[in-house]
Amino acid sequence: MGDSWKSRKVVIVGAGAVGSTFAYALAQKGLADEIALIDANRDFAEGQALDLAHGLPYYPSVQIKVGQKQDYAGAEVIVVTAGAEQAPGESRLALIKKNKTIIELIIEEILDQQSQAVIVVATNPVDILTYTALKHTGWPKSRVMGSGTVLDSARFRYLLSQHCDVDVGNVHAYFLGEHGDSEFPAWSMTHIAGVAIDDYCPVCKKCMSWLLERKEIVKTVRESAYHIINYKGATYFAIGMALVRIVGTILQDQRSILPVSTLLEGEYGIQDVCLGVPCIVGQGGVKQIIEAPLFQEEKEALSKSAVILQNVINQVLIQD
Ligand SMILES: NC(=O)c1ccc[n+]([C@@H]2O[C@H](COP(=O)([O-])OP(=O)(O)OC[C@H]3O[C@@H](n4cnc5c(N)ncnc54)[C@H](O)[C@@H]3O)[C@@H](O)[C@H]2O)c1
Repeated sequence: MGDSWKSRKVVIVGAGAVGSTFAYALAQKGLADEIALIDANRDFAEGQALDLAHGLPYYPSVQIKVGQKQDYAGAEVIVVTAGAEQAPGESRLALIKKNKTIIELIIEEILDQQSQAVIVVATNPVDILTYTALKHTGWPKSRVMGSGTVLDSARFRYLLSQHCDVDVGNVHAYFLGEHGDSEFPAWSMTHIAGVAIDDYCPVCKKCMSWLLERKEIVKTVRESAYHIINYKGATYFAIGMALVRIVGTILQDQRSILPVSTLLEGEYGIQDVCLGVPCIVGQGGVKQIIEAPLFQEEKEALSKSAVILQNVINQVLIQD
Protein backbone atom coordinates (compact mmCIF):
# COMPACT_ATOMS: atom_id res chain seq x y z
CA MET A 1 0.00 0.00 0.00
CA GLY A 2 1.45 3.39 -0.98
CA ASP A 3 2.04 6.36 1.33
CA SER A 4 -1.03 8.14 -0.02
CA TRP A 5 -3.39 5.41 1.21
CA LYS A 6 -5.71 6.68 3.91
CA SER A 7 -7.80 4.39 6.03
CA ARG A 8 -11.54 5.15 5.96
CA LYS A 9 -12.01 5.29 9.70
CA VAL A 10 -15.43 5.61 11.32
CA VAL A 11 -15.60 6.27 15.06
CA ILE A 12 -18.85 5.38 16.80
CA VAL A 13 -19.46 7.05 20.15
CA GLY A 14 -21.98 5.03 22.15
CA ALA A 15 -21.66 1.26 21.74
CA GLY A 16 -25.24 0.53 22.82
CA ALA A 17 -28.09 -0.83 20.73
CA VAL A 18 -27.91 1.81 17.97
CA GLY A 19 -24.11 2.15 17.89
CA SER A 20 -23.42 -1.59 17.77
CA THR A 21 -26.15 -2.34 15.22
CA PHE A 22 -24.77 0.42 13.02
CA ALA A 23 -21.24 -0.99 13.43
CA TYR A 24 -22.46 -4.47 12.45
CA ALA A 25 -24.28 -3.21 9.35
CA LEU A 26 -21.39 -0.93 8.34
CA ALA A 27 -18.88 -3.78 8.63
CA GLN A 28 -21.01 -5.99 6.41
CA LYS A 29 -21.26 -3.32 3.72
CA GLY A 30 -17.48 -3.01 3.41
CA LEU A 31 -17.66 0.78 3.39
CA ALA A 32 -15.10 1.41 6.16
CA ASP A 33 -11.53 0.14 6.66
CA GLU A 34 -11.60 0.73 10.40
CA ILE A 35 -14.43 0.96 12.92
CA ALA A 36 -13.65 2.19 16.45
CA LEU A 37 -16.24 1.93 19.22
CA ILE A 38 -16.08 4.34 22.15
CA ASP A 39 -18.35 4.15 25.18
CA ALA A 40 -18.36 5.68 28.66
CA ASN A 41 -18.58 2.08 29.86
CA ARG A 42 -15.19 0.84 28.64
CA ASP A 43 -15.84 -2.83 29.51
CA PHE A 44 -19.07 -2.76 27.57
CA ALA A 45 -17.30 -1.25 24.54
CA GLU A 46 -14.61 -3.94 24.89
CA GLY A 47 -17.25 -6.70 24.84
CA GLN A 48 -19.14 -5.21 21.90
CA ALA A 49 -15.94 -4.69 19.87
CA LEU A 50 -14.74 -8.25 20.53
CA ASP A 51 -18.11 -9.75 19.64
CA LEU A 52 -18.21 -7.72 16.41
CA ALA A 53 -14.54 -8.43 15.58
CA HIS A 54 -15.05 -12.19 15.84
CA GLY A 55 -17.10 -11.91 12.65
CA LEU A 56 -14.03 -10.62 10.78
CA PRO A 57 -13.57 -13.73 8.61
CA TYR A 58 -17.04 -13.15 7.20
CA TYR A 59 -17.11 -9.37 6.63
CA PRO A 60 -15.44 -7.60 3.73
CA SER A 61 -12.00 -6.39 4.87
CA VAL A 62 -12.32 -4.22 7.99
CA GLN A 63 -10.72 -3.68 11.40
CA ILE A 64 -12.96 -3.35 14.46
CA LYS A 65 -11.62 -2.21 17.82
CA VAL A 66 -12.35 -0.29 21.00
CA GLY A 67 -11.58 3.31 20.33
CA GLN A 68 -10.01 6.02 22.40
CA LYS A 69 -10.11 9.76 22.02
CA GLN A 70 -6.96 9.76 19.82
CA ASP A 71 -9.07 7.94 17.20
CA TYR A 72 -11.01 11.15 16.56
CA ALA A 73 -7.87 12.61 14.95
CA GLY A 74 -7.83 10.27 11.95
CA ALA A 75 -11.56 9.69 11.63
CA GLU A 76 -13.39 10.49 8.43
CA VAL A 77 -16.78 10.26 10.12
CA ILE A 78 -17.73 10.32 13.81
CA VAL A 79 -21.21 9.00 14.57
CA VAL A 80 -22.63 9.96 17.96
CA THR A 81 -25.18 7.57 19.43
CA ALA A 82 -24.18 8.10 23.08
CA GLY A 83 -26.97 9.07 25.38
CA ALA A 84 -28.53 8.67 28.77
CA GLU A 85 -31.73 6.73 29.31
CA GLN A 86 -34.79 8.52 30.65
CA ALA A 87 -34.81 7.90 34.41
CA PRO A 88 -38.18 7.07 36.07
CA GLY A 89 -40.03 10.33 36.68
CA GLU A 90 -37.47 12.36 34.74
CA SER A 91 -38.92 15.02 32.43
CA ARG A 92 -38.12 15.15 28.73
CA LEU A 93 -36.44 18.51 29.26
CA ALA A 94 -34.21 17.13 32.02
CA LEU A 95 -33.18 14.29 29.71
CA ILE A 96 -32.39 16.77 26.94
CA LYS A 97 -30.17 18.74 29.33
CA LYS A 98 -28.41 15.54 30.37
CA ASN A 99 -27.80 14.50 26.74
CA LYS A 100 -26.69 18.03 25.86
CA THR A 101 -23.98 17.76 28.53
CA ILE A 102 -22.92 14.36 27.15
CA ILE A 103 -22.69 15.73 23.60
CA GLU A 104 -20.70 18.77 24.74
CA LEU A 105 -18.18 16.55 26.56
CA ILE A 106 -17.77 14.38 23.46
CA ILE A 107 -17.32 17.46 21.26
CA GLU A 108 -14.61 18.79 23.65
CA GLU A 109 -12.64 15.57 23.14
CA ILE A 110 -13.12 15.69 19.37
CA LEU A 111 -11.87 19.29 19.31
CA ASP A 112 -8.86 18.37 21.48
CA GLN A 113 -7.77 15.96 18.74
CA GLN A 114 -8.02 18.57 15.95
CA SER A 115 -10.30 16.19 14.13
CA GLN A 116 -11.18 16.92 10.49
CA ALA A 117 -14.11 14.47 10.54
CA VAL A 118 -17.73 14.93 9.64
CA ILE A 119 -19.95 14.46 12.71
CA VAL A 120 -23.28 12.66 12.39
CA VAL A 121 -25.49 12.88 15.49
CA ALA A 122 -28.13 10.20 16.10
CA THR A 123 -28.78 10.71 19.82
CA ASN A 124 -32.25 12.08 20.59
CA PRO A 125 -33.63 14.66 20.44
CA VAL A 126 -31.52 14.60 17.32
CA ASP A 127 -32.30 18.06 15.92
CA ILE A 128 -31.61 19.82 19.23
CA LEU A 129 -28.39 17.87 19.81
CA THR A 130 -27.20 18.47 16.24
CA TYR A 131 -27.64 22.20 16.91
CA THR A 132 -25.74 21.81 20.22
CA ALA A 133 -22.91 19.90 18.52
CA LEU A 134 -22.64 22.40 15.67
CA LYS A 135 -22.54 25.44 17.96
CA HIS A 136 -20.06 23.75 20.29
CA THR A 137 -17.64 22.82 17.50
CA GLY A 138 -17.75 26.19 15.79
CA TRP A 139 -17.17 24.20 12.56
CA PRO A 140 -18.74 24.97 9.20
CA LYS A 141 -22.31 23.71 9.24
CA SER A 142 -21.55 21.25 6.42
CA ARG A 143 -19.47 19.13 8.84
CA VAL A 144 -22.08 18.60 11.55
CA MET A 145 -25.38 16.95 10.71
CA GLY A 146 -28.01 14.83 12.39
CA SER A 147 -29.72 11.68 11.15
CA GLY A 148 -32.79 13.89 10.76
CA THR A 149 -35.78 12.23 9.13
CA VAL A 150 -33.78 9.65 7.16
CA LEU A 151 -35.23 6.84 9.27
CA ASP A 152 -38.75 8.28 9.14
CA SER A 153 -38.48 8.55 5.36
CA ALA A 154 -37.44 4.89 5.18
CA ARG A 155 -40.50 3.95 7.23
CA PHE A 156 -42.65 6.06 4.90
CA ARG A 157 -41.20 4.41 1.79
CA TYR A 158 -41.68 0.96 3.30
CA LEU A 159 -45.33 1.63 4.17
CA LEU A 160 -46.08 3.14 0.74
CA SER A 161 -44.47 0.16 -0.98
CA GLN A 162 -46.53 -2.26 1.11
CA HIS A 163 -49.67 -0.29 0.48
CA CYS A 164 -49.17 0.01 -3.29
CA ASP A 165 -47.70 -3.50 -3.49
CA VAL A 166 -44.61 -2.36 -5.39
CA ASP A 167 -40.85 -2.63 -4.84
CA VAL A 168 -39.68 -0.12 -2.22
CA GLY A 169 -36.90 0.79 -4.68
CA ASN A 170 -39.57 2.33 -6.92
CA VAL A 171 -40.84 4.56 -4.10
CA HIS A 172 -39.27 7.99 -3.75
CA ALA A 173 -40.58 9.78 -0.69
CA TYR A 174 -39.49 12.02 2.19
CA PHE A 175 -40.63 12.88 5.67
CA LEU A 176 -39.29 16.30 6.66
CA GLY A 177 -39.00 18.58 9.70
CA GLU A 178 -38.39 17.58 13.31
CA HIS A 179 -37.45 13.96 13.97
CA GLY A 180 -40.43 13.78 16.30
CA ASP A 181 -44.12 14.43 16.58
CA SER A 182 -44.26 17.46 14.24
CA GLU A 183 -42.59 15.68 11.31
CA PHE A 184 -44.66 15.52 8.12
CA PRO A 185 -44.77 13.82 4.70
CA ALA A 186 -43.71 15.88 1.69
CA TRP A 187 -46.42 14.61 -0.67
CA SER A 188 -45.21 17.17 -3.23
CA MET A 189 -41.95 15.16 -3.47
CA THR A 190 -43.52 11.69 -3.42
CA HIS A 191 -43.20 9.64 -6.62
CA ILE A 192 -43.71 6.01 -7.55
CA ALA A 193 -41.62 4.95 -10.55
CA GLY A 194 -41.26 8.65 -11.39
CA VAL A 195 -45.04 9.24 -11.35
CA ALA A 196 -46.21 11.90 -8.88
CA ILE A 197 -48.27 10.26 -6.14
CA ASP A 198 -51.39 12.28 -6.99
CA ASP A 199 -51.25 10.86 -10.53
CA TYR A 200 -50.28 7.37 -9.36
CA CYS A 201 -53.12 6.86 -6.87
CA PRO A 202 -55.99 7.00 -9.42
CA VAL A 203 -54.28 4.40 -11.64
CA CYS A 204 -53.04 2.12 -8.85
CA LYS A 205 -56.54 1.25 -7.58
CA LYS A 206 -55.14 -0.70 -4.61
CA CYS A 207 -57.10 1.15 -1.97
CA MET A 208 -60.69 2.20 -1.29
CA SER A 209 -60.05 5.80 -0.27
CA TRP A 210 -56.53 7.03 -0.86
CA LEU A 211 -57.01 10.20 1.16
CA LEU A 212 -58.01 8.23 4.26
CA GLU A 213 -55.33 5.64 3.69
CA ARG A 214 -52.66 8.30 3.28
CA LYS A 215 -53.65 9.67 6.68
CA GLU A 216 -53.29 6.22 8.19
CA ILE A 217 -49.81 5.77 6.65
CA VAL A 218 -48.65 9.13 8.02
CA LYS A 219 -49.98 8.29 11.49
CA THR A 220 -48.19 4.93 11.39
CA VAL A 221 -44.87 6.57 10.44
CA ARG A 222 -45.19 9.10 13.27
CA GLU A 223 -46.08 6.42 15.82
CA SER A 224 -43.58 3.78 14.64
CA ALA A 225 -40.96 4.44 17.29
CA TYR A 226 -43.57 4.40 20.09
CA HIS A 227 -44.95 1.05 18.87
CA ILE A 228 -41.53 -0.59 18.55
CA ILE A 229 -40.43 0.72 21.95
CA ASN A 230 -43.64 -0.68 23.48
CA TYR A 231 -42.96 -4.06 21.89
CA LYS A 232 -39.24 -4.42 22.63
CA GLY A 233 -37.87 -1.40 24.46
CA ALA A 234 -35.80 0.28 21.74
CA THR A 235 -35.39 0.73 17.98
CA TYR A 236 -32.04 -0.02 16.39
CA PHE A 237 -32.05 -2.11 13.18
CA ALA A 238 -33.55 0.44 10.79
CA ILE A 239 -31.66 3.38 12.33
CA GLY A 240 -28.51 1.27 11.94
CA MET A 241 -29.23 0.97 8.21
CA ALA A 242 -30.16 4.66 7.94
CA LEU A 243 -26.78 5.55 9.47
CA VAL A 244 -25.01 3.25 7.00
CA ARG A 245 -26.80 5.11 4.19
CA ILE A 246 -25.68 8.52 5.55
CA VAL A 247 -22.11 7.48 6.35
CA GLY A 248 -21.80 5.57 3.05
CA THR A 249 -22.66 8.62 0.99
CA ILE A 250 -20.05 10.64 2.93
CA LEU A 251 -17.29 8.02 2.57
CA GLN A 252 -17.96 7.45 -1.12
CA ASP A 253 -18.88 11.05 -2.01
CA GLN A 254 -22.11 9.72 -3.48
CA ARG A 255 -23.96 13.06 -3.30
CA SER A 256 -27.16 11.33 -2.30
CA ILE A 257 -30.11 13.53 -1.41
CA LEU A 258 -31.11 12.65 2.13
CA PRO A 259 -33.26 14.50 4.70
CA VAL A 260 -30.50 14.90 7.28
CA SER A 261 -30.80 17.46 10.05
CA THR A 262 -28.86 20.58 9.09
CA LEU A 263 -28.72 24.23 10.14
CA LEU A 264 -31.13 26.42 8.20
CA GLU A 265 -29.98 29.98 7.56
CA GLY A 266 -32.88 31.45 5.65
CA GLU A 267 -33.68 28.40 3.51
CA TYR A 268 -37.44 27.81 3.49
CA GLY A 269 -37.69 31.16 5.33
CA ILE A 270 -36.29 29.53 8.52
CA GLN A 271 -33.33 30.75 10.60
CA ASP A 272 -31.03 29.23 13.21
CA VAL A 273 -32.50 25.79 13.79
CA CYS A 274 -31.48 22.29 12.68
CA LEU A 275 -34.14 20.06 11.14
CA GLY A 276 -34.61 17.45 8.44
CA VAL A 277 -34.66 18.89 4.90
CA PRO A 278 -33.43 17.37 1.64
CA CYS A 279 -29.67 17.84 1.38
CA ILE A 280 -26.98 16.72 -1.03
CA VAL A 281 -24.63 14.71 1.20
CA GLY A 282 -21.14 13.63 0.19
CA GLN A 283 -17.49 13.94 1.15
CA GLY A 284 -17.16 16.72 3.71
CA GLY A 285 -20.82 16.48 4.75
CA VAL A 286 -23.78 18.55 3.62
CA LYS A 287 -22.95 20.10 0.27
CA GLN A 288 -26.25 21.83 -0.40
CA ILE A 289 -29.73 22.20 1.00
CA ILE A 290 -32.33 21.56 -1.69
CA GLU A 291 -35.16 24.08 -1.44
CA ALA A 292 -37.92 21.95 -2.90
CA PRO A 293 -41.09 23.69 -4.10
CA LEU A 294 -43.23 22.33 -1.26
CA PHE A 295 -47.03 22.63 -1.14
CA GLN A 296 -48.25 25.55 0.99
CA GLU A 297 -49.39 23.23 3.83
CA GLU A 298 -45.98 21.54 3.80
CA LYS A 299 -44.19 24.90 4.09
CA GLU A 300 -46.42 25.67 7.06
CA ALA A 301 -45.68 22.27 8.63
CA LEU A 302 -41.94 22.88 8.25
CA SER A 303 -42.24 26.32 9.89
CA LYS A 304 -44.29 24.76 12.71
CA SER A 305 -41.57 22.15 13.29
CA ALA A 306 -38.97 24.94 13.36
CA VAL A 307 -40.92 26.93 15.96
CA ILE A 308 -41.30 23.84 18.17
CA LEU A 309 -37.55 23.19 18.00
CA GLN A 310 -36.65 26.85 18.55
CA ASN A 311 -38.78 26.86 21.71
CA VAL A 312 -36.88 23.85 23.03
CA ILE A 313 -33.56 25.48 22.11
CA ASN A 314 -34.61 28.59 24.04
CA GLN A 315 -35.67 26.57 27.06
CA VAL A 316 -32.77 24.18 27.18
CA LEU A 317 -29.79 25.66 25.47
CA ILE A 318 -29.99 29.39 25.85
CA GLN A 319 -31.47 29.75 29.36
CA ASP A 320 -28.99 27.26 30.82
N1 LIG B 1 -32.07 9.47 15.34
C1 LIG B 1 -32.84 8.39 15.28
O1 LIG B 1 -33.58 8.20 14.31
C2 LIG B 1 -32.78 7.41 16.43
C3 LIG B 1 -33.37 6.15 16.35
C4 LIG B 1 -33.25 5.28 17.43
C5 LIG B 1 -32.59 5.69 18.60
N2 LIG B 1 -32.05 6.94 18.64
C6 LIG B 1 -31.34 7.45 19.82
O2 LIG B 1 -30.04 6.91 19.87
C7 LIG B 1 -29.56 7.02 21.22
C8 LIG B 1 -28.92 5.69 21.63
O3 LIG B 1 -29.91 4.70 21.71
P1 LIG B 1 -29.52 3.22 22.17
O4 LIG B 1 -30.77 2.42 22.08
O5 LIG B 1 -28.28 2.79 21.49
O6 LIG B 1 -29.18 3.49 23.72
P2 LIG B 1 -28.23 2.57 24.64
O7 LIG B 1 -28.56 2.95 26.04
O8 LIG B 1 -28.32 1.15 24.21
O9 LIG B 1 -26.74 3.09 24.30
C9 LIG B 1 -26.28 4.35 24.65
C10 LIG B 1 -24.82 4.19 25.01
O10 LIG B 1 -24.26 5.49 25.23
C11 LIG B 1 -23.26 5.31 26.22
N3 LIG B 1 -22.86 6.61 26.77
C12 LIG B 1 -23.52 7.39 27.64
N4 LIG B 1 -22.81 8.51 27.89
C13 LIG B 1 -21.67 8.44 27.14
C14 LIG B 1 -20.55 9.28 26.96
N5 LIG B 1 -20.43 10.44 27.61
N6 LIG B 1 -19.59 8.88 26.10
C15 LIG B 1 -19.67 7.70 25.46
N7 LIG B 1 -20.73 6.86 25.59
C16 LIG B 1 -21.71 7.22 26.44
C17 LIG B 1 -23.89 4.37 27.24
O11 LIG B 1 -22.93 3.77 28.07
C18 LIG B 1 -24.60 3.39 26.31
O12 LIG B 1 -23.79 2.25 26.03
C19 LIG B 1 -30.77 7.42 22.07
O13 LIG B 1 -30.72 8.80 22.32
C20 LIG B 1 -31.93 7.09 21.16
O14 LIG B 1 -33.09 7.87 21.44
C21 LIG B 1 -32.11 7.79 17.58
